[in-house]
Amino acid sequence: MDSVTEENARAYDAHAEDWYRAMSTNPGHIYLEKPAMERELPDDLTGVNVLSVGTGSGEELGLLVKRNPRHIVAVDISEKLLAIASRMYPDIECRNMDMMDLSFDDTSFGLVYSSLAFHYTHDWDRLLAGVYRVLKPGGTLLFSTHNPGYWSKGATGAVYTNERGVTLTEHAAVLPGGVRIVYYNHKDIASLHEAVLHAGLIIDTAYDPEVIRNTAVPKGERTKYENMVTTNAKNPLFHIVRAHRPVV
Ligand SMILES: C[S@@+](CC[C@H](N)C(=O)[O-])C[C@H]1O[C@@H](n2cnc3c(N)ncnc32)[C@H](O)[C@@H]1O
Repeated sequence: MDSVTEENARAYDAHAEDWYRAMSTNPGHIYLEKPAMERELPDDLTGVNVLSVGTGSGEELGLLVKRNPRHIVAVDISEKLLAIASRMYPDIECRNMDMMDLSFDDTSFGLVYSSLAFHYTHDWDRLLAGVYRVLKPGGTLLFSTHNPGYWSKGATGAVYTNERGVTLTEHAAVLPGGVRIVYYNHKDIASLHEAVLHAGLIIDTAYDPEVIRNTAVPKGERTKYENMVTTNAKNPLFHIVRAHRPVV
């Protein structure tokens, strides 16, 4: 695990309960990212082994459990967040693991799911090579990530260019719950897609999700919700990709 990842793990550990509480009212998750991710999931995961990458306190695990998969493994670098996920879903196998070193056998999973975690690495080639390896041929990768347009603020000055000349910049932010994190940003969406294709995956769909409307938002949260609607319309916050490993 590199030193930035260790720092991120410490930050999430230090604020794990605050993060968990903040997520229960976080409009970006409740009305934007999670509903969009749910729309991309098949209704039925019977017989499918699922890997959840960067599961955090486990918000997305409910979406997976209700689809009746054979088995779910949830990995994260934050022990404290995983403890919360385990508390909520005691039957799920939670493993403290860096997504850059997925220690599973080849072709172990039919679905790799990841909500808002991939932007914690500047080495998408290594991350996605691992994801490709653990996916079964025909298996699906569904992930959401920061939208480079919105998250280009907070640059620290560090720049990482890989051997194909793809550059990611380093950024810092304070997330809901007071979690101070360092993340990385592609220059644009095309560059992010290029990493997925380079890994050998086929992109089935990719888009900037919209906020769900005509929904009951609790009174105290309406201002935050409306602000997010305006922000996301101008500058989309997230990006979603569903891809699959081809059957060769
Ligand atoms: C923004 S949170 C998202 C949590 C959860 N997926 C959700 O949507 O609520 C990012 C998560 O990624 C985890 N994470 C960051 N870097 C990671 C890494 N290298 N390997 C595994 N998990 C990582 C963090 O600990 C954190 O739980």
